Amino acid sequence: MIVCSCNVISDHDIRGAVSIDDELCSTAQVYDCLGCTVRCGRCSQAVRRILEEQPARDIRGIGA
Ligand code: FES
Repeated sequence: MIVCSCNVISDHDIRGAVSIDDELCSTAQVYDCLGCTVRCGRCSQAVRRILEEQPARDIRGIGA
């Protein structure tokens, strides 16, 4: 499922990024890792939810 329509990023892309890099703990870091930036920000909550699904992750309230 496409999570970010601005960057055409799917939930699989995000899960793949966070499974490779345990240090990813904000939406901005996820987008950096995927080589893009947050544009409109509508996807931020969905990205945060995916991050929160990951066990023992320190979710920070930063990033749009
Ligand atoms: S939907 Fe992700 S930045 Fe716009």
